[in-house]
Amino acid sequence: MFERPQSGERAILVHAGIAGAPETAEREEFVELACSAGAVIVGEIVSGRQRPDPRTFIGKGKLEELRQSVIANGAELVILAASLKPSQERNLEGDLKCRLIDRAGLILDIFALRARTSEGLLQVELAQLKHMSTRLVRGWTHLERQKGGIGLRGPGETQLESDRRMLNNRIRQLMSRLDEVDARRAMNRQNRVRAEVPTVALVGYTNAGKSTLFNALTDAGVYVKDQLFATLDPTFRQLELPDSREVVLADTVGFIRDLPHELIAAFRSTLQETCEADLILHIIDASDMHRWQRIRQVNAVLKQLDADKVPQIRVYNKIDKLDGGYRDAANRPGDGRSVRISSVTGEGLPALLQAIVMRLPRKEQQGVLHLLPAQGRQRAKLFAMGAVLREEACEDGGWNIELRMGERDLQRFLLQENLGNSFLEPVPASVAAIDN
Ligand code: GTP
Repeated sequence: MFERPQSGERAILVHAGIAGAPETAEREEFVELACSAGAVIVGEIVSGRQRPDPRTFIGKGKLEELRQSVIANGAELVILAASLKPSQERNLEGDLKCRLIDRAGLILDIFALRARTSEGLLQVELAQLKHMSTRLVRGWTHLERQKGGIGLRGPGETQLESDRRMLNNRIRQLMSRLDEVDARRAMNRQNRVRAEVPTVALVGYTNAGKSTLFNALTDAGVYVKDQLFATLDPTFRQLELPDSREVVLADTVGFIRDLPHELIAAFRSTLQETCEADLILHIIDASDMHRWQRIRQVNAVLKQLDADKVPQIRVYNKIDKLDGGYRDAANRPGDGRSVRISSVTGEGLPALLQAIVMRLPRKEQQGVLHLLPAQGRQRAKLFAMGAVLREEACEDGGWNIELRMGERDLQRFLLQENLGNSFLEPVPASVAAIDN
């Protein structure tokens, strides 16, 4: 039995792969992740085993190399880029006499640091507690005196001081509070659906520029920072498109390769907004050398969420960092499938809005509206709106007008013109038959 060693920011990273050492891109990403959690990297070790060592994951030789490096660099923390079993984590800490976290622990730590809304905080706390509850062993959980370093952030420390029963109570409490939040969120979503306001969700690899674009489009003032996962909670803002349609724009949590399962589960309700969106804007950092990999990784997460069927626009962002040719294409009208923009300079934003207009599915209504002879002005307005398919003069001097227009536009027209009690009758079968 032992107490966990103190933690701090001076960290050694262990790039641990199975069946070979991790590739450079993977290693770079891990460094970025560690930095955005506030770690000061004082050393890196690469390890590639055919099979994880059951006791320490990295095996005896690497463990000795790591132990030397911890001492030589005065490291306070080891971050290992793999998923460790609780027993491996404990054995390593015991042997190294140094605090250690794995990849899931690191990502949870970053999420804890970034959570801002109450829902986000609840979700992270729950994920952290679940992660930690599998690691609860007497003596290993005395974290109370070790606040301050990375791998220790957020809630849970005082709970961990107590026993498993208290931890489970807290988990139950959080789950029921999250259920309430979920119910509220579902109601809001239902209201949006009922009001027929389509949702456009911004997704993308973390740091691609979602929040910056969200701000540029809505002037919403969402927190933006050059750190991975600057955004944790989806934020909604209403946005009017150039064709006067209104949409709800949803900023979501940044994606990352192999998002730990406990996090996908924790953020399911948040990410649900993405699956149920009418259109996805997939934001890509065009200046990122690894953008093709990132695109694939984001699409893989979307598939995991069953959101791969939602129409998608690829938005290549940060073109201000690139030169001529790439940027020139920013304002060319395209097919609405991909656009090039800079959220910072505003280049390409009009083209993006046009692409949204083009790709956002329209909810339309078709039917016949009867107008009286005194309603010639309304008739003229319908023609001007381009909503009339055909019309027929009636015996009362009025008109039967067959219309096709968006549901919301129709409601707005009927209200504005004091035709609130009118409704569209179905197109008569004989006319519909001629149509087909
Ligand atoms: P997560 O919350 O981590 O998922 O990040 P995000 O995708 O919301 O990225 P965010 O908007 O926070 O932007 C990340 C960094 O990229 C910030 O430093 C932004 O200023 C920068 N950035 C975003 N868009 C652009 C752009 O068009 N050009 C340039 N040069 N920088 C940009």
